[in-house]
Amino acid sequence: MTTAMAKLPHASPELTARERLAVEVFADASVASAYVAREIAELIREKAAKGETCVLGLATGSTPVGVYAELIRLHREEGLSFQNVVTFNLDEYHPMEPGHLQSYHRFMKENLFDEINIDPANVHIPDGTTAPEDVAAHCEAYERAIADAGGIDLQLLGIGRTGHIGFNEPGSPRDSRTRLITLDKVTRMDAASDFFGEWNVPRRAMTMGVGTILNARRLILIAFGEHKAGIVRRAVEEPITNSVAASSLQDHPDVRFVLDPAAGAELTRCKTPWLLGQIERFGLAWDPPMVRKAVVWLARSLDKPILKLTDEDYNEHGLQDLLSATGGAYELNIRVFKEISRTITGWPGGKPGRPRFVPGKGVSDDNGADAFPKRIVVFSPHPDDDVISMGGTLIRLCDQRHEVHVAYQTSGNIAVFDDEAVRHVDFLSEVASAFSLGEQADRFEQRIASFVRDKKPGEPDSAELRTIKGLLRRTEARAAAKYSGVAEEHIHFQDLPFYETGEVKKRSIGADDVRLTLELLERVQPHEIYAAGDLSDPHGTHRVCLRAILLALEEASKRDLAWRRDLHLWLYRGAWQEWSPEEIEMAVPLSPSEVERKRLAIFKHQSQKDRALFPGPNDPREFWQRAEDRNRQTAELYDKLGLPEYQAIEGFVCWRPRLISARSAGDDA
Ligand code: F6R
Repeated sequence: MTTAMAKLPHASPELTARERLAVEVFADASVASAYVAREIAELIREKAAKGETCVLGLATGSTPVGVYAELIRLHREEGLSFQNVVTFNLDEYHPMEPGHLQSYHRFMKENLFDEINIDPANVHIPDGTTAPEDVAAHCEAYERAIADAGGIDLQLLGIGRTGHIGFNEPGSPRDSRTRLITLDKVTRMDAASDFFGEWNVPRRAMTMGVGTILNARRLILIAFGEHKAGIVRRAVEEPITNSVAASSLQDHPDVRFVLDPAAGAELTRCKTPWLLGQIERFGLAWDPPMVRKAVVWLARSLDKPILKLTDEDYNEHGLQDLLSATGGAYELNIRVFKEISRTITGWPGGKPGRPRFVPGKGVSDDNGADAFPKRIVVFSPHPDDDVISMGGTLIRLCDQRHEVHVAYQTSGNIAVFDDEAVRHVDFLSEVASAFSLGEQADRFEQRIASFVRDKKPGEPDSAELRTIKGLLRRTEARAAAKYSGVAEEHIHFQDLPFYETGEVKKRSIGADDVRLTLELLERVQPHEIYAAGDLSDPHGTHRVCLRAILLALEEASKRDLAWRRDLHLWLYRGAWQEWSPEEIEMAVPLSPSEVERKRLAIFKHQSQKDRALFPGPNDPREFWQRAEDRNRQTAELYDKLGLPEYQAIEGFVCWRPRLISARSAGDDA
């Protein structure tokens, strides 16, 4: 497949009518990154052929990492030279030492500059060590250096959830230049995980201004992931406003947004394409998922139950075509209502003696007899994702006597507060002294306590402290799984190697991660698997964990292993997002007492209780509160659509290759 062919869907002028600047949506982040890298490479070569320098504006953050990796590959394998390249980075925290783990100088060296043949004298990044009184002069000199280099030929941009480009937070004027700014609260929370806690994130940064960025001759903004979808829509489809700096790009003559489907999901062309014209003209069809999406959208927009939607409702809200294709509101409503009703089951693993629950069909006699009890593996990326995201279903599966295994994919050892670890080592030393178990525990405690005392903000933990934190989470996970009804011998700790860096930044997925996953699956030979399918996890750990499973399953298919043939893989969402009713293929209702049991299972994760080290962006609620709110909201939505009213619902989607491929699950942890 060529990169051009991988754009989704074909963007006719009618389809992009609401977009105020050029947008390209690619099949997945890796294809999009390769496309951008190729464009940069072409520009560098074109300029080199004319004996000119190529001036690139560069960004940091998680988004451009794939572009840089591809540029490195082009350098190594296709001889792309960077000798004629001059670079200017958008920004740097202030204050910040260049060698510091979180510095953008270090980021650029590690992710690009050390791996290519660029002349270090051609690299420019604002200097985070500049004394406060010299910052203004430093910023002016930065602007002059850009001008002296002939201006920026191509500027790469990411977008923050505040809509910032560079660090131009809401309120940044369109003519602003390079300067010192105060970071927005949302931005600091987004960066919290890189700094091992929000309190370590610098309050200020130096950034090129919106005006500086707009002076570049060509602009490419990249956005990946569903957490960017809302702000991308505002920047693309709403009028220019200072409160979304990226919207100012609409004024630029040569700008493009490059997205993956998740980041483009809120654009009208993806969310409600029927509002733009006949969907068949866009290469789309009124297939069952599209029909369900449209009907649920209509019911939600009008705040009406599905069965009360009228012909007029459809006609007046851009769904005339759907109506005429399906013969009227009455039939259409009943069809979609029944489809959604069939997703509800109190027997997620199947009922003894009944036919199998099949995604999209529910339970029907055509499905054939079901196995009972089933062997089920619940994969949990971090030690608490299982109970947070599907605790009610986990408890039900155990209560209903299936053989339930839980596999904790990573140790989660970076997400524990130091004082929590110190308290446990203190406990160990008290136990050792109470039972005269020797003085080693005491010495150990002192060593750990003094490491923690001398640790600098943002400094990674020692291997010993990491182990303690990992073990702490391991015992919490074991307690929660046992409380949910999982047998001790069915609790597996995988400690996948990709995670064990001691830093927020993880390694790419490796052969060992996949091998360990396949070995576990071969041992259990499951009928069903549950895995985290949310792709918004700020650190990317969920994505890598899903990829390990998908690659292991690919391998099992290649080997035609018997258990693989009839296997269902159910995806739950992590702590950040939820499936919407039109997507849910299995809805497991929870009674009030099951909600309470689930809460108590989550409480076993004491190190994450009251306040978590990595709470995710801008959400003050504890994990159990988020889980309860989100399960209650799903139940309320079902109720509003006219379906039965439950206390709470956990939703699942059945994995199919078109949904998330092993490749698009990405590996940019
Ligand atoms: C980075 C920068 C920022 C990021 C933005 C998105 O140099 O200027 O604007 O591009 O915060 O960050 P990620 O890619 O980490 O989501």
